[in-house]
Amino acid sequence: MRKDTPIPYDVINKHIELMKLDNVGKASIREIKRLVDNVEEETGQRYIRMEMGIPGLAPCEVGVEAEIDALNQGVASLYADIDGIKPLKKEISRFIKLFADTDVDPRGCLPTVGSMQGSFAAFMTCNRMYKEKDTVLFIDPGFPVHKQQCQVLGIPFESFDVYNYRGEKLRDKLESILSKGNISSMLYSNPNNPAWICFTETELEIIGELANKYNVVVLEDLAYFAMDFRKDISKPGQPPYQATVAKYTDNYILLISSSKAFSYAGQRIGMMALSDKLFDTKAPDLKRYYAFDTFGRAMVFGTIYALSAGTTHSSQYALAAILKEANDGNYDFIDVVKEYGEKAKIMKKMFTDNGFEIVYDKDEDQPLADGFYFTISYPGFTGEELIERLIYYGISAISLAITGSERKEGLRACVSLVSRDQFPDLKKRVEKFNEHHPV
Ligand SMILES: Cc1ncc(COP(=O)(O)O)c(C=O)c1O
Repeated sequence: MRKDTPIPYDVINKHIELMKLDNVGKASIREIKRLVDNVEEETGQRYIRMEMGIPGLAPCEVGVEAEIDALNQGVASLYADIDGIKPLKKEISRFIKLFADTDVDPRGCLPTVGSMQGSFAAFMTCNRMYKEKDTVLFIDPGFPVHKQQCQVLGIPFESFDVYNYRGEKLRDKLESILSKGNISSMLYSNPNNPAWICFTETELEIIGELANKYNVVVLEDLAYFAMDFRKDISKPGQPPYQATVAKYTDNYILLISSSKAFSYAGQRIGMMALSDKLFDTKAPDLKRYYAFDTFGRAMVFGTIYALSAGTTHSSQYALAAILKEANDGNYDFIDVVKEYGEKAKIMKKMFTDNGFEIVYDKDEDQPLADGFYFTISYPGFTGEELIERLIYYGISAISLAITGSERKEGLRACVSLVSRDQFPDLKKRVEKFNEHHPV
């Protein structure tokens, strides 16, 4: 390997040795972060940090103010209702109507401790509805922590990479799995972490139809709500809307995060919306674990009560205020986060101009949207080899291998922490990489 790399070759090797990393490409996200922190500290050179998916914007101000007010009024000493304070339930329901054109009664609109608690509670409850349905299906690539949740719950799961099953091809693939009768629920994120694919209406329709046919609950993870920037979803109550499987089935749970859309990750508040039909569904097998056989009651007074007895009181006021502003058309949250898409467009071009390829590049026949993440590969390299080599060029990312992707050559790049003043460095570094590794 060439030693005239943008970040001094010897310094990196020294830190790899100090951390006793046998294989940088196989290192965990946290180990890569630590290595990069150490090298940055010694060299004073900033990395293009694309390894972690954390918001890079200031928190929504309306939320911060509402939260401070609520605290000043004393809510910290009071338990909030397990299923959420009334104004929040109402605003969640309005939000889903105005931005996703879907009706969910406020009763089924529940705050959760981050969307992570929502998925944990959903796996747990859905998987206990019917004795024979004891397995979760992941439509991958996906967010590794969801599988970790199933692992700690002892819930078996299956998964497949959707890369080769886009459009109509999804039907046979899903049918082959769901027809076995053991799947309780299936989860995907849309837009997708890590690939930023967005399912088309054809695909959502297939998912919805098969969920009806095989009585499977769809767990639709909308962590990046409204961030398919190809469509302007910013006008409440006007099309186009956030695409959702709710158009095609009434057997769903929507998981909506406030971490990215409202840059509110630190307060750990998310939303879970149970369809009206699912809320009232009776499943006698639930009685094995709960005092109730109705899904909604089991979820609220069984699972959520047992997990955390609800969500932080003050952050519920924050979220209620944020949603009210958005619903009333006074706060264009999409305009704020559009920055991610604009940066992605510029960054992707720097990579593709210099020999890199975009791994997941299409939604059926449509070019992919620009957003929070994109995926890259370089001819002749596996993902692990590419990470290991890019570290010397001052660029960090993670391998797609940990996301259930079968594209072992790919990396996930996250744009959020890269600031525009780093673009000239990024350009120089990918050009140098390309020069050192002619395609
Ligand atoms: C796809 C996906 N789902 C869920 C989450 C978790 O969201 P929250 O911070 O609301 O728990 C993330 C966060 O990165 C994510 O990428």
